[in-house]
Amino acid sequence: MRDVAELSVLWDLCEGARREGRTVSLVPTMGALHAGHASLMDAAAPDSFCVVSVFVNPLQFGAGEDLDRYPRTLDADRALCASHGVDALFAPAPNAVFPDGFSSQVRVGGLTDRLEGVHRPGHFDGMTTIVAKLFGMVGKSTAYFGQKDYQQLQIVKRMARDLNLPIKIVGCPIVREDDGLARSSRNRYLSPDERARALSLSRGLAAAESLWAKGIRDRSTLEHAALEPVEAAADRVDYVEAVHPESLEPYTGGPRCVVLVAAHVGSTRLIDNRVLD
Ligand code: PAJ
Repeated sequence: MRDVAELSVLWDLCEGARREGRTVSLVPTMGALHAGHASLMDAAAPDSFCVVSVFVNPLQFGAGEDLDRYPRTLDADRALCASHGVDALFAPAPNAVFPDGFSSQVRVGGLTDRLEGVHRPGHFDGMTTIVAKLFGMVGKSTAYFGQKDYQQLQIVKRMARDLNLPIKIVGCPIVREDDGLARSSRNRYLSPDERARALSLSRGLAAAESLWAKGIRDRSTLEHAALEPVEAAADRVDYVEAVHPESLEPYTGGPRCVVLVAAHVGSTRLIDNRVLD
């Protein structure tokens, strides 16, 4: 596995792989890698040239969020990537990513106004800006994203389509702990008591899913079932919403629905979701 910090080296490696007839796979991350990230590496075509980027993107953190304390575990990240067949670990320094006078932004309209967008203003603009930059650094490729960040995945798909980027976007299932908690780099912030209370998110989603399985399609009934355990256990609930899978507008009927939840447990903000179909 190559350790890459320079953009020009990354470009040359990806170009070289394409010249040899290999596809390039990209797994964008902020590091503190876990089994969820590893599943994206495993999803990449085995004969592709697989790049994992590790960059804690300051553009997508708001004031008062956890940019400074976000876990940075590059040595462990390197070992995990190496054991999952990654070809290049791209971990650039901030000044390599942002040239002097950097003043551009990529913004996707509509989808960014709802759910996370309401509670984390500017977050998605920072996310799409860095993801568009990563796409530009790597060139024609297939990029892997987790459904854990369901809204992010929809926004990245929309961006790639709207801007004709030469990137195929693949969404991958949520990886969970045995008891149902969605894997997240932020789970390591949780105390044992908070860890127990964090389970309310996946429990709420499971409650909505069992109503769905019984044929219930009423949005507020589904949302209420998901909300109840979260409201009882979390310190603050940002939202519990049942939405259409692509438009992210409130669910009004149809074969598929996504229930999304965001809540604070202690000082940790957690998100989770479940696709009902
Ligand atoms: P990060 O939170 O590190 O996540 C990187 C990728 O891993 C995302 O596509 C995310 O959805 C996926 N992922 C995280 N936890 C997962 C889980 N439990 N199961 C499956 N996939 C999971 O998302 C970001 O970083 C950033 O916003 C980024 C796209 C890198 C831009 O900075």
